[in-house]
Amino acid sequence: MKKSRTVLVTGGCGFIGANFVHLLLDEYPDWQVINLDKLTYAGNLENLRDATGNERYRFIKGDICDGSIVDGIFREYGIDTVVHFAAESHVDRSITGPADFIQTNIVGTFTLLEAARKSWMPRADSQAVFLHVSTDEVYGSLGETGYFSETTSYDPRSPYSASKASSDHLVSAYFHTYGLPVRITNCSNNYGPYQFPEKLIPLIFHNCMGGRELPVYGDGKNVRDWLYVKDHCEAIAQVVQKGKNGRSYNIGGNNEKENIEVVGLICDILDRKIGLLPTGECRRTLIRFVKDRLGHDRRYAIDAGRIRDEIGWQPQVRFEEGIERTIDWYLANTDWVSNVVDGSYRKYYEKMYEHRL
Ligand code: NAD
Ligand code: TYD
Repeated sequence: MKKSRTVLVTGGCGFIGANFVHLLLDEYPDWQVINLDKLTYAGNLENLRDATGNERYRFIKGDICDGSIVDGIFREYGIDTVVHFAAESHVDRSITGPADFIQTNIVGTFTLLEAARKSWMPRADSQAVFLHVSTDEVYGSLGETGYFSETTSYDPRSPYSASKASSDHLVSAYFHTYGLPVRITNCSNNYGPYQFPEKLIPLIFHNCMGGRELPVYGDGKNVRDWLYVKDHCEAIAQVVQKGKNGRSYNIGGNNEKENIEVVGLICDILDRKIGLLPTGECRRTLIRFVKDRLGHDRRYAIDAGRIRDEIGWQPQVRFEEGIERTIDWYLANTDWVSNVVDGSYRKYYEKMYEHRL
């Protein structure tokens, strides 16, 4: 039975957040959605164009670090559920400029926790949930074998993962100290529609389309466990409904792949779907091994046994199927990609949505 909820989604204009808002509007008819997003370079109102005008949806442009905006939203809308996606999310950017990661990922999470504490405590409604969306990167890097479980020690190694680990600790501290009804999810690499083309899969798609070189870091043998974004969003909705407070849930796709396999597969799919390059060559000829990322984690792999056994969630989409769906989406939405790449997505709508509290 899906109970009615008023959900504050942070970062709903980003990749996973937008997919999650679509899921709630399509499949959770009793849930109201308030989307708070600062519209950084990664936030794109185009991702939620379909939601505009939906009476269950409200967009507010604002920064999660701004306590007055966040407190105001809790007061005005009677928020009983927070699903917190907003973050700086790209490892390479965290290496060249970590400051925004510290501010948004740590201070922003703290600001939201404080707003929830002031609004909900000392006796939170039994339905209240603060779900913090985090990453498997907090656990560090694996060797050839083994999996991250919820009891693996934290060992973050990039400024991005260190900022997420820090926010996870704060979230956990608010449970132990104040009894705030928090839950944490740590998921593996997502892929699917609306992903910003700085991340591996959409970047390789975009370069393939333009016949540009395909940069593969190091020897290309780093392994990621790929999770189809819709599977991830469904897992989050399940954790909101059936999870336990104070608990973490690892979410993975059971799809471990070396980067070079992923890049090669995208080349082959595009060769098959739209034909070879104008030179007559296949797209694999565009692959270039480039200088490795600093501190590049070798392998991530998730043991998702807890969410399977306690909540009954399992990923539904195998990588071979999900990557076909993803490439089909990008091929059908080449305008979305070119608007992002040439920056014109920034001009759409922004002025229409001033903060009106
Ligand atoms: P994204 O970079 O695509 O989107 C982030 C969104 O947050 C954007 O809309 C941006 O405008 C917004 N935002 C950034 N700073 C903000 C601020 N200060 N105030 C309000 N809004 C702000 O990110 P994503 O890939 O969708 O990731 C969402 C969450 O999932 C993040 O917390 C990330 O750490 C986590 N995660 C992502 C992955 C992945 O593979 N993408 C894997 C594991 C965990
Ligand atoms: P990315 O999509 O940035 O996600 P994350 O760093 O959070 O895992 O990168 C996925 C993998 O692909 C990672 O091992 C780095 C590698 N990579 C490349 O080889 N080339 C690229 O151009 C990018 C962006 C990533």
